[in-house]
Amino acid sequence: MDYQKLRPLLFMLPAETAHGLAIHALKTGLIKAKPTQADYSALKTQLWHLNFPTPVGLAAGFDKNADVLTPLLQLGFGFVECGTVTIKPQIGNPKPRIFRCPEQRAVINRMGFPGKGVNAFKENFSAFLNARPRPQGIVGINIGMNKDQTNPADDYRRLIAQIGAMADYITINISSPNTPGLRDLQKRDAFLDITAAVLDARQKYCSDAQQPPVLVKLAPDLDNAQQEELAQAALDSGIDGLILSNTTLARPSDLPQKFADEKGGLSGAPLKEKSTEIIHNFYALTKGQIPIIGVGGIENAQDAYDKIKAGASLVQLYSALVYQGPHLAQNINDDLLNLLKHDGYTHISDAVGANHKGEIPNEIRA
Ligand SMILES: Cc1cc2nc3c(=O)[nH]c(=O)nc-3n(C[C@H](O)[C@H](O)[C@H](O)COP(=O)(O)O)c2cc1C
Repeated sequence: MDYQKLRPLLFMLPAETAHGLAIHALKTGLIKAKPTQADYSALKTQLWHLNFPTPVGLAAGFDKNADVLTPLLQLGFGFVECGTVTIKPQIGNPKPRIFRCPEQRAVINRMGFPGKGVNAFKENFSAFLNARPRPQGIVGINIGMNKDQTNPADDYRRLIAQIGAMADYITINISSPNTPGLRDLQKRDAFLDITAAVLDARQKYCSDAQQPPVLVKLAPDLDNAQQEELAQAALDSGIDGLILSNTTLARPSDLPQKFADEKGGLSGAPLKEKSTEIIHNFYALTKGQIPIIGVGGIENAQDAYDKIKAGASLVQLYSALVYQGPHLAQNINDDLLNLLKHDGYTHISDAVGANHKGEIPNEIRA
């Protein structure tokens, strides 16, 4: 069924109920990819030791418990980041805790990491790994701490011990605004401590062949001094990449007041420029030496392309799926091919950091 026809019905339901239906529809095969003959070889991206069939991924938070990885990859995402997963199961904040704003194509959420915990997650993830045929595409795992944890490094270390070796890559989430104290890990010393703990756990618990790249996901609400400090810390820490960005606590003035008053992180169209700007800044500050996954407000191929030119090697989206439905990744892949052709690029990697030409020598552009 055409998503634009289904949308008014879905929007009559609370956002979290609609999300539950989407997960159910994916599990039962009701949502299918569009048939396509397209040749995406110009979009294939090799990063770390991983081969991404396209650079367009699904951001963390949609598939928190690794329930529907296969059907999501089949929808044309080059990669899916599942989680955030925590050690213990937790219920998260009271409902309602996800709010849509169709006029602004935005979402506010204050989920607070609800999830079934790492044991259930591991079972689902193993089932995905063991199923044949495995669809093409990369799967990352986003890890976070439980709300009552006072020593975050303990949770992150235990999560790596349990599931690090299963992941194609790991994301340390220190930027969700809905877990008290989590964003404090974005201060230099705490950042260096937590990344050292995770890299140490990776060394200890994952064999040489299984060492996943470790990325850190940051908030868009960092001032210039914090960005400079964290860019240097990221270089010093030995992490493999950054995800920019999580949701914002800011509330642009054109949001309807009732929506803007909801507590939580804002995502979707109003986050677009802010996240592109922080990608641009971090690429410049790190001189393109740390691969960046760009996320925030991507609604179409042009938005994805803008983030790539600002310095992202890969991109992710979430909120726009709510407004445009399950074929969005395929549409973006198709249109990205046209944008590349228009600019005379033969491969997507040629466009990474293109807006910085002249600032950074070509040979170190990722
Ligand atoms: C309902 C909802 C839940 C989310 N949950 C998580 C999460 O568990 N972990 C995380 O790192 N990001 C989470 N995010 C943030 C997204 O991964 C993404 O960084 C952000 O929404 C910006 O992208 P978008 O504008 O395309 O949605 C969530 C976003 C939404 C809308």
